[in-house]
Amino acid sequence: MRILILLGPPGAGKGTQAKEIAARHGLIQLSTGDMLRAAVKVGSPVGRKAKAMMDKGELVPDAIVIKIICDRLEEPDCRRGAILDGFPRNLAQAAALDNVLADKRKKVNAVIELRVDDEELIKRIAGRFTCSRCGEGYNDASKRPKAEGVCDVCGSTTFTRRPDDNAQTMRTRLMVYYRETSPLIGYYFCKGNLRTVDGMAPIANVGREIDKVLGEIKESK
Ligand code: AP5
Repeated sequence: MRILILLGPPGAGKGTQAKEIAARHGLIQLSTGDMLRAAVKVGSPVGRKAKAMMDKGELVPDAIVIKIICDRLEEPDCRRGAILDGFPRNLAQAAALDNVLADKRKKVNAVIELRVDDEELIKRIAGRFTCSRCGEGYNDASKRPKAEGVCDVCGSTTFTRRPDDNAQTMRTRLMVYYRETSPLIGYYFCKGNLRTVDGMAPIANVGREIDKVLGEIKESK
């Protein structure tokens, strides 16, 4: 089981890259944000607890997200490995992940930090939209559908914007990132598995850079 983590602030491109890395490397993408949004949509007990925190841009309690990830890692499709997008989000979550992997005699193989300027993050979040049917992600500034108003992947003409992608919530999310999540950069640096990639480059270039880093890690083992 290979475990990769994509680390970065809101809008850094974690979801965009995780989806593509998963497809290229035969891994499963585990996005706690997507899983929580699915729980909110169906109105499950987890979703009801998570909604208020997500709307404010604050973190959902650790116990909830740790259980979601630990349960998911037990499923057979994760046997080859997973790319974690949005987890861990603080030191307690990172320690819980280390423990659960240690029980399986596994460890985190690589942590890729996507580094992007704050102004660019705000712009990306303001411009993000998603196909309502297949979930393909787009952006007003950097990735519009080839035919205006029509999803490139499934042809749907309905798109949605996330309720937490507004200016006020985005500022809270960014603050929460610097307060809670950015200490993980030091945590993984000290463990020796942090790699930093320039997330300001175009989407395809960021993907190539991540593949290069993953290739180097494989060779050094
Ligand atoms: P989550 O869904 O994880 O949101 P986030 O971390 O705020 O990250 P985003 O999804 O906003 O950004 P991204 O880095 O994935 O960027 P993307 O690829 O879409 O979490 C939402 C909420 O759930 C949290 O606030 C919290 O409440 C809760 N939560 C989730 N996990 C939790 C946890 N572990 N613990 C507690 N609570 C948790 O890209 C953004 C846009 O930019 C897109 O439009 C894209 O097309 C564009 N773009 C991407 N890359 C580039 C590029 N290189 N150049 C130009 N444009 C680009």
